[in-house]
Amino acid sequence: MRFSAGAALACAALASAKSLDDLCTVSNVKAALPSNGTLLGIDLIPAATTAGVVSSSSYNYCNVSVTYTHPGKGDSVVVEYAFPEPSNFKSRFYVAGGYGYSLSTSSTGGISYGAVGGATSAGYGALDGVTIDEVLLKGNGSIDWDPVYMFAYQALGEMTKLGKYITPSFYGSNSKIYTYYEGCSDGGRQGMSQIQRWGEEYDGVITGAPAFRYGQQQVNHLFSGEVEKEQNYYPPPCELEKIVNATIKACDPLDGRIDGVISRSDLCKLHFNLSSTIGEKYYCAAETTTSLGFGFGKRSIGKRAEGSSTSYQPTQSGVVSAEGVAVAEKILNGLHNSKGERAYLSYQIGASFTDAETEWNNDTKKWELDIPSTGGEFVTRFVELQNLDNLSTLDGVTYDTLVEWMNRAMVRYMDTLQTTLPDLTTFQSHGGKLLHFHGESDPSVPTASSIHYWQSVQEIMYPGSKQSLSQLKDWYQLYLIPGAAHCATNSLQPGPYPEDNMATMIDWVENGATPSRLNATVSSGEYEGEVQRLCQWPSRPVWHSNTTFDCTFDQKSYDSWTYDFPAFKVPVY
Ligand SMILES: *[C@@H]1O[C@H](CO)[C@@H](O)[C@H](O)[C@H]1NC(C)=O
Ligand SMILES: *[C@@H]1O[C@H](CO)[C@@H](O)[C@H](O)[C@H]1NC(C)=O
Ligand SMILES: *[C@@H]1O[C@H](CO)[C@@H](O)[C@H](O)[C@H]1NC(C)=O
Ligand SMILES: *[C@@H]1O[C@H](CO)[C@@H](O)[C@H](O)[C@H]1NC(C)=O
Ligand SMILES: *[C@@H]1O[C@H](CO)[C@@H](O)[C@H](O)[C@H]1NC(C)=O
Ligand SMILES: *[C@@H]1O[C@H](CO)[C@@H](O)[C@H](O)[C@H]1NC(C)=O
Ligand SMILES: *[C@@H]1O[C@H](CO)[C@@H](O)[C@H](O)[C@H]1NC(C)=O
Ligand SMILES: *[C@@H]1O[C@H](CO)[C@@H](O)[C@H](O)[C@H]1NC(C)=O
Ligand SMILES: *[C@@H]1O[C@H](CO)[C@@H](O)[C@H](O)[C@H]1NC(C)=O
Repeated sequence: MRFSAGAALACAALASAKSLDDLCTVSNVKAALPSNGTLLGIDLIPAATTAGVVSSSSYNYCNVSVTYTHPGKGDSVVVEYAFPEPSNFKSRFYVAGGYGYSLSTSSTGGISYGAVGGATSAGYGALDGVTIDEVLLKGNGSIDWDPVYMFAYQALGEMTKLGKYITPSFYGSNSKIYTYYEGCSDGGRQGMSQIQRWGEEYDGVITGAPAFRYGQQQVNHLFSGEVEKEQNYYPPPCELEKIVNATIKACDPLDGRIDGVISRSDLCKLHFNLSSTIGEKYYCAAETTTSLGFGFGKRSIGKRAEGSSTSYQPTQSGVVSAEGVAVAEKILNGLHNSKGERAYLSYQIGASFTDAETEWNNDTKKWELDIPSTGGEFVTRFVELQNLDNLSTLDGVTYDTLVEWMNRAMVRYMDTLQTTLPDLTTFQSHGGKLLHFHGESDPSVPTASSIHYWQSVQEIMYPGSKQSLSQLKDWYQLYLIPGAAHCATNSLQPGPYPEDNMATMIDWVENGATPSRLNATVSSGEYEGEVQRLCQWPSRPVWHSNTTFDCTFDQKSYDSWTYDFPAFKVPVY
């Protein structure tokens, strides 16, 4: 249908008078669907359309589900959209990221922003919570590539493109739809996938601690256990926590303020020697913990996976040992191959040693290797292509084996899950804005992983340009969150956490208010309630008093965040 400008205005006026009940009908949705051939690669099955008002205590929305197929494939992808009340609709579309091996199952994340939201089945049941690891293999050795591509980037891109097509007609509006993405962890990776592959579709993208550089990132979860095995020392968890606490105590003042937070892990890395913690006493009471874990893959029911499990730890008391410090130092130094070439980067000093957590064996009365299924399952399923939930042992595994697994995974998933394409020209030239953040004490996705990608984008998009930093800041800004853990605050460091990223992003996209800092609020401890305006990378905070800090650039600190990976022959972005 085509409107003249006048007719469209009249139509918009009419639509704004309509109620959600008026709009939330199968026929209104069907009329808004693109006919076959309009969106290349997306053929609608109009007969499968559903629409119904859903009321909750805080809002009402129209729950729509639409089904499409890829021409010639005979597959079926269901997408769900949530349309807010017409009076609340602010011409926005919102996409939420998932986590672990999941896509988001909820379409309602945008309602509070006056945005239509969407979620997708990706053709493999993702709306019902099916995770990619469950459908990766058709059988041992046989990857089902369709779900891999869909999970990696295609499903979200198609959901967004289709949703943006339907939205204006649904409301009878023709104003520009501002399109936002927000996600952390794998949701951060999914966001990066969207700007790399569907850059023209998004106006504002917020990515936290992206679990990208997939091959390296996932295998790296096994590195800490491998260090323990090579060093033949399995530290009691309490000893490692004591090392972390002592590090926090020693490095907290280096940023100029004593607040229990390492706001400058770079200065800690440059100036603090972990050996000074040797001999410090530790004590942890016995406990039986029921842990909820990371939610990384539904199948792997284990201590660090979805589903709770119970584990017992006896009383731990002793002093920090030279062996414990050696393990910590090796972990923080990152993976190198047997030739001494660097393969990967590691967590920042002061982060918890989550991957290194050992398991108490109540029969042998010893602390033993505990393989985290984040890394273990990745190697069995995604690398070795065996339908197994976890690696049973690290026997026979060397540092070179880890490098080899990383390389195989990187090469195999280079154009799907690796998600490190550094050329963002399409996104940038369509006016897209990227807000990227990362907890500085993240124990799951190394903070330096985000720095490395930022550096890759800068080098690839502005080679040799002296103005590259100011050009990049116009549309891509990175913020490190002092003391923060993985997509969350940190129980060991009462630091700030950003709470209104969408407000910042909306202001940037819709009002041209380019941020220079990022608001973050302290939620515990002595400074609870304080709003810090965080420094934009590559500038770093220096506190001058208990209330004020500056953002400064320091080359030595910057260099401490910079890595090459000569253990791989292809460039690692
Ligand atoms: C669009 O194509 C699909 C198959 O690719 C078909 O099932 C559907 O009926 C077509 N829709 C129309 C309106 O022709
Ligand atoms: C939205 O509609 C779909 C398809 O009819 C349905 O499966 C889903 O449960 C609905 N969601 C809510 C919250 O009612
Ligand atoms: C580490 O510090 C936290 C408080 O920040 C405390 O609860 C915990 O017991 C300490 N751990 C050890 C091993 O001392
Ligand atoms: C840390 O201190 C130990 C013991 O004093 C020393 O052997 C080691 O060389 C120091 N490390 C660095 C990087 O200075
Ligand atoms: C993975 O397997 C290893 C070896 O059997 C075991 O130590 C570890 O607890 C398992 N991890 C999970 C999450 O199940
Ligand atoms: C571990 O062994 C001790 C005795 O040494 C026993 O009291 C305790 O119940 C056991 N715990 C578990 C979880 O099996
Ligand atoms: C797949 O491989 C695993 C590990 O080798 C084995 O336990 C399992 O039986 C195999 N499954 C099939 C269907 O062959
Ligand atoms: C950031 O915080 C400052 C000071 O508290 C406040 O004036 C400003 O409105 C906040 N910005 C956003 C986007 O919330
Ligand atoms: C700053 O905070 C520290 C630690 O809380 C305190 O000891 C010190 O007196 C404070 N300094 C000023 C100038 O208030």
